[in-house]
Amino acid sequence: MGPEEFRNAGHQLVDWMADYFAHIRDYPVFPRVTPGQLTDSLPISAPDTPEPFQQIFDDFQRLIVPANTHWNHPNFYAFFSVSGAPPGILAEMLISTLNVNHMLWRSSPAGTELEQVTMNWLRQWLNLPEEFFGIIYDTASISTMHALVAAREKAHPQTRTQGGNGNLVVYCSEQAHSSVEKSAITIGIGQDNVRKIGVDAQWRMRPDLLEAAIGADINAGKHPTCIVATVGTTAVTAVDPVPAIADIAAKYQLWLHVDGAYGGAAAFVPKLRHYMDGVDRADSFVFNPHKWMLTPIDLSAFYTRHPDILKRAFALVPAYLQTTDNERALNFMDYGVQLGRRFRSLKLWFVMRAYGRQHIARMIEQQCGWAQEFAAWVSADHRFEVVAPVTYSLVCFRHRGGDEPTRRLMDDLNSSGKAFLAGTTLKGRFVLRLAIGNFQTTREDLQQVWQFVQEHA
Ligand SMILES: Cc1ncc(COP(=O)(O)O)c(C=O)c1O
Repeated sequence: MGPEEFRNAGHQLVDWMADYFAHIRDYPVFPRVTPGQLTDSLPISAPDTPEPFQQIFDDFQRLIVPANTHWNHPNFYAFFSVSGAPPGILAEMLISTLNVNHMLWRSSPAGTELEQVTMNWLRQWLNLPEEFFGIIYDTASISTMHALVAAREKAHPQTRTQGGNGNLVVYCSEQAHSSVEKSAITIGIGQDNVRKIGVDAQWRMRPDLLEAAIGADINAGKHPTCIVATVGTTAVTAVDPVPAIADIAAKYQLWLHVDGAYGGAAAFVPKLRHYMDGVDRADSFVFNPHKWMLTPIDLSAFYTRHPDILKRAFALVPAYLQTTDNERALNFMDYGVQLGRRFRSLKLWFVMRAYGRQHIARMIEQQCGWAQEFAAWVSADHRFEVVAPVTYSLVCFRHRGGDEPTRRLMDDLNSSGKAFLAGTTLKGRFVLRLAIGNFQTTREDLQQVWQFVQEHA
């Protein structure tokens, strides 16, 4: 593809992207396809000879788009609703154009230093202490895995060379994200050594049960190592009592990792900032700009006050990557599993500059307000109940008739294409989760969803 063909194809693609946003409400949020349908419509093998770009792009529109669940749709309310907003999308095009791999400062000074600068800007927005070092990974799951490796390095450094798990134990609430357990599986701590601490009536980790579990493990000859607290849990967006948990971490000298993958965005909003109380005492923290901060997937921001420990856990430099640059030259490859790194900070830089903190904060505050309103509509209808406190922009609710009508409502809504919701199970009962987070969602969209639910109830 020569420069002129590239230019024309690029213009055509950007036109399509702009039209996609302009007419996004015309798309069914969940596609009208069945499992295997797309696979069956595509060739079994890749072509041996070149195909015209136009043909590939036509097939994208004809086959791929109709089989897509539209995460960027304003009526996407499943899981945590996200936004890939235009400034970040355009930056993605530049990221691929430069095609940087900044494993070393030398392999891209721009990639390395912009990551340091944007992580520092974001640290300020998150109100984290100045000594926190930031690094970008792909997802919160991987960020949490790095936190657990750093915790292990601090508690049991011989693991790096000798393997074994040193009887290490990790603590989190029973509402913590499954990535904590997956991290324990991955790094050899083992699922059985993750203690899932009980929660109070508002789904927050109970510090008394946490301390009791730590005590029991010490008595049993185990080695308590790390506590993972969550600010904005996945199921109901509960906020664990981080200050009390930090006291316990300090008392037993445990690593405290805080998962604010979704809820960290509250720090941008002065009146929600208290949800982050105590996070300044953490050893590490994760926040995902690709969730509630307008940044296209994927970009996870990991912070730690112990970059030295993280580096001790991971630095391993083969001869071909050794450099003699001065001490200002940071080599991000020393701070994680991966060698190669995408220029992710470029999209964060575009997003932070194009919107500014105030605009993002306004969006978050407005969406939290709509969630309160939606919950009020639900509560006013005797057929429904709100089943968890509305802390951020998530409403968990169900039909009082039980699991079956609640599930049917979700299925009706999803198959209508008008909106997309997912559910979860709380205390054995199926509930719907309406998560507001897309930058194009309006109050009218939410009114229409509620009207649909009421009509089908
Ligand atoms: C609280 C929390 N932590 C971690 C994750 C995992 O995020 P990721 O998909 O970036 O690994 C999620 C996903 O929704 C989450 O809600």
